[in-house]
Amino acid sequence: MTYALPTGWQALTNHAQEMRQSSMMSMFEADPARATRYSMTAAGLTLDYSKNLINAKTLTLFQHLFDAIKLQPSIDAMIAGEPINRTENRAALHTLLRTSPGQVSPQLTDQYGAVQASLASVKRISDAVRSGQWLGATGKTITNILHLGIGGSYLGPRMVDEALSPYDDGQIRCDYVANVDGLHIDQVLARLDPTRTLVIIVSKSFSTVETRVNAESTQRWLRQAIPTAQLNLHAVAITSNVAAAQAFGIADENILPMWDWVGGRYSLWSAVSLPIAIKFGFAHFQALLRGAESMDTHFRSASWPNNMPMMLAALGVFYRNFMDVGSHAILPYDHSLRLLPAHLQQLDMESNGKSVSVEGDHVSIQTGPTIWGGEGTNGQHAFHQLLHQGTHFTSLDFILPLTPHHDRQLHHDWLVANCLSQSQALLQGQNLEQLKFEGTESEKMSRVMPGNRPSNTIVMDQLTPATLGATIALYEHKVFCQAQIWQINPFDQWGVELGKKLSETIFEAIDQGAEPTLDPSTRELLSRYQQTRKDRSH
Ligand code: F6P
Repeated sequence: MTYALPTGWQALTNHAQEMRQSSMMSMFEADPARATRYSMTAAGLTLDYSKNLINAKTLTLFQHLFDAIKLQPSIDAMIAGEPINRTENRAALHTLLRTSPGQVSPQLTDQYGAVQASLASVKRISDAVRSGQWLGATGKTITNILHLGIGGSYLGPRMVDEALSPYDDGQIRCDYVANVDGLHIDQVLARLDPTRTLVIIVSKSFSTVETRVNAESTQRWLRQAIPTAQLNLHAVAITSNVAAAQAFGIADENILPMWDWVGGRYSLWSAVSLPIAIKFGFAHFQALLRGAESMDTHFRSASWPNNMPMMLAALGVFYRNFMDVGSHAILPYDHSLRLLPAHLQQLDMESNGKSVSVEGDHVSIQTGPTIWGGEGTNGQHAFHQLLHQGTHFTSLDFILPLTPHHDRQLHHDWLVANCLSQSQALLQGQNLEQLKFEGTESEKMSRVMPGNRPSNTIVMDQLTPATLGATIALYEHKVFCQAQIWQINPFDQWGVELGKKLSETIFEAIDQGAEPTLDPSTRELLSRYQQTRKDRSH
């Protein structure tokens, strides 16, 4: 079979050519209600998508596209737990992790029972640590968490930890070590007291090299201060590979589950966020789940064009596939959301960085863009130059909490003023006439701003556990909708495997002197390393 473009693709191609020539400023002038017409509110978030190269016809054409690809039945299939991750024959049930009791369909009762039991364990452990009932081997309370994990077993909780920092009561400090780079674990262990530390090893597979090596080093460090029989007071594992965690020495009651029906990058709603529950309290973790659940409810029930994740997906596809836009930036105007771009980068790029369809055909169109970003206003003094005057435009999401978690009103007013002015500048640009600048041709031309560059703005009253949960779920569903349009599976990640396998071969060459077949460049680089290593050991 060959890859077939969905019905409506050509109509969108033609329409995009027209819209590329259109002026957003003129569309605002022609329609005074455009800003309100092209905005919507759901789950505590308001999306203003009026600054986009779209009109009523764009929305109609996407309606046809979503009908043609049967988007609504696909959403229902995901939430119902059908094995939509076809290359692994698994469900993708991250939504079940944040479903309230009473809202679960009967066919998911078993899985939901497991979710509830796991949440009960998260509550038990987090309450015990926070209340001081959980004592270490020497009878001291736990003051520090050391979280070991990487990728989806790291980015989500690490980002949430930062985002909820205004809710930190200072009782527990969490450190997160992901990279196998020994410097990081070295520096962290040097300032931790093992008798007051609870180590949380998070690895769905329990075989990821970085996590295993960090866990082994940490276990040796623990053993210097803690008798083996009492290590259970200092180590917890979150994994779907119970046997491997047991073999590592984790006590049964300290092993919390991950399941094959939740992908790593969708797992922050599970026991993977145990450090969050410990640091901020179980109630805040629950509020995060409720916020995500309210976005889920919106996603499955709101019809187009009043569906926020569908709208973000459609806008992304409009630019990616019909206007040749290769990257999408996430720009939170909130210091505590500064790690959100990194989490969304994994979510989007590991999910939709695919070139083979669910039917096994090579896709003949572009799929996931490069996702990147950074906190405002910092980016304005770094990469925004390209956003304003580069040769191509990047699609953008500004994210802005309206109420700060501090009393420095002046700071917040400036933060808001900057966020709003960036999307305004991108929209309106500045021509020679407006510039009113006397000087040479090059002096004048270098100051011209093309404008007509699109952006979304997502605002929320305040960044709370609930609005954070809704924001993350919004992007999860956006990624899902885009995968449906591109006919790819967003729930596997086979592309990361070859590198892992090859690293084992090279590690063996370093460790045991094996002589693998390597390309000349890699061979030279390896022998350079081997020589350096040898010189260092003398
Ligand atoms: O290598 C990619 C990946 O498998 C991610 O998908 C995953 O989130 C990460 O590694 C960590 O995997 P694990 O939780 O099994 O250690």
